[in-house]
Amino acid sequence: MSLKQGHFIGALDAGTTSVRFMVFDEHANIISQHQLEFTQYYENPGWHSHDAAEIQQVADKCIDETVKQLEADGWDRSSIKAIGITNQRETAVVWSRKTGKPLCRAIVWTDNRTKGIVAHYQKKLDEEGIEVSPGNFKKGKDALGDICGLPISTYFSGVKVLWMIDHYPEVKHAHETDDLAFGTVESWILFNLTGGVASGIHVSDPTNASRTLLMDLHSLQWSGPLLKFFGLKSSILPTLVSSSEVYGTISSGLLKGVKISGLVGDQQGALVGNKCFKEGEAKCTYGTGAFLLFTTGREPVKSSNGLISTVAYLSSRNAKPVYALEGSIAVAGSAIKWLRDQMGLISSAAEINTLASAAEDSGAVYFVTAFNGLLAPYWDPSAGGLLIGLSPYTIPAHIARATIEANAFQTRAILEAMKLDSGVDLKHLKVDGGMTNGDLVMQVLADIGGFDVLRPEMRESTALGAAILAGAAIKFSGWDIEVPETLTEVNTKGSRTFQQSISDAERDKSSLNQWALDFEGNYE
Ligand code: G3P
Repeated sequence: MSLKQGHFIGALDAGTTSVRFMVFDEHANIISQHQLEFTQYYENPGWHSHDAAEIQQVADKCIDETVKQLEADGWDRSSIKAIGITNQRETAVVWSRKTGKPLCRAIVWTDNRTKGIVAHYQKKLDEEGIEVSPGNFKKGKDALGDICGLPISTYFSGVKVLWMIDHYPEVKHAHETDDLAFGTVESWILFNLTGGVASGIHVSDPTNASRTLLMDLHSLQWSGPLLKFFGLKSSILPTLVSSSEVYGTISSGLLKGVKISGLVGDQQGALVGNKCFKEGEAKCTYGTGAFLLFTTGREPVKSSNGLISTVAYLSSRNAKPVYALEGSIAVAGSAIKWLRDQMGLISSAAEINTLASAAEDSGAVYFVTAFNGLLAPYWDPSAGGLLIGLSPYTIPAHIARATIEANAFQTRAILEAMKLDSGVDLKHLKVDGGMTNGDLVMQVLADIGGFDVLRPEMRESTALGAAILAGAAIKFSGWDIEVPETLTEVNTKGSRTFQQSISDAERDKSSLNQWALDFEGNYE
């Protein structure tokens, strides 16, 4: 039987707990997909690691299984014109340039074993400062943020590499001998898909590089002052490329010869997939964590309220980047997983909705899901999780509801900070990610948040963003990321709106709402 010829784009979405490969047509219909989970290592309290080799094996298998399914459905594999890669962002992978093998487990973005390193560099910044030009030192927390848009935090990948160098002699040796290659997950996967050591393609795009603490947010180049401040050699770094260009081709497997032409961190991928191209447009993705990104245009906006400045995308090497403000919440869907896997309160993540529906409110139970400290807007690595307000009246439904509410309170705190930074009071928020499948989760978000929640029917926005960037690089169906009108026909399926169903006064009455509402822009 001869196979049909289609016109498709693939996207590999390498997330925190699973990898998936998806094939889209030019309208963002999903033609074929495969998803696989991989091992999570929690070796010590606060630690979270991945085996980078396993991530690669799972990625290869997802591509294989998707292509086999595509062919079983009658499509020729050559219908896939290019692929994009999107990824969990701050997870640090290190490997040997000589062997192409990882030198230790990857340290995941959620991990906070680097608390001591962070405290050390914080002190150095306060006492000594950072040498921004020969002999000219700048002190204080803003000195770093002015260069890279980030506060020093356990969240970012640069400090994870420092920890590896300090704790693993083989990593230290590789650093000293210029054999060390550092990359985030997109960099590692691209290196492997394009042939590893044989081709030696070691690149990263600015959406990922802007999360390392090592890139200058204005020039989009690695920063000499930051490398010197942290004592890292530039030989470890990938070459910086754009988010949309041909980086190489797949060297083996069922998609051998297919171009790889999009690289984007998953949250910026979702911003693109939601088509938030204009200033003031925002989305929040509720996956393992939750990440609210707000497009700010062609210049980085400095936050005074605990948000971070980040690159939204760079559409080609010669383009001007588009920037975003981001509020990163470390724990969202992972709190539901915790209720399922550690507490045994539910047997599937989806069951949270049924369980929470059994109570009208949280029965005065509040859950601060600070499992590994708190990210935006608080940046407190030592914060711990709290489940409070428990009484003999408490039933599992109250805890389920409090978990859903925690998510909404944190989103609201981020939006309050964004309002203070930008003056924009967001009236609606586009959402996606696994947690948004539940209607109750969406309604609670609208009620506590005080805005309309827009949930698209096709919610694979992260993968779609990578597909759009990969497609634009090869002029797939006329897509051009700099001309949003060329994407009008992409994902036209519409969305469902969840509107606030309680009054502002009712919402604000709930006393512990205060941990969202008391936030007045001072996160010290
Ligand atoms: O910054 C971390 C983020 O990129 C992880 O995303 O979807 O795996 O929760 P996700």
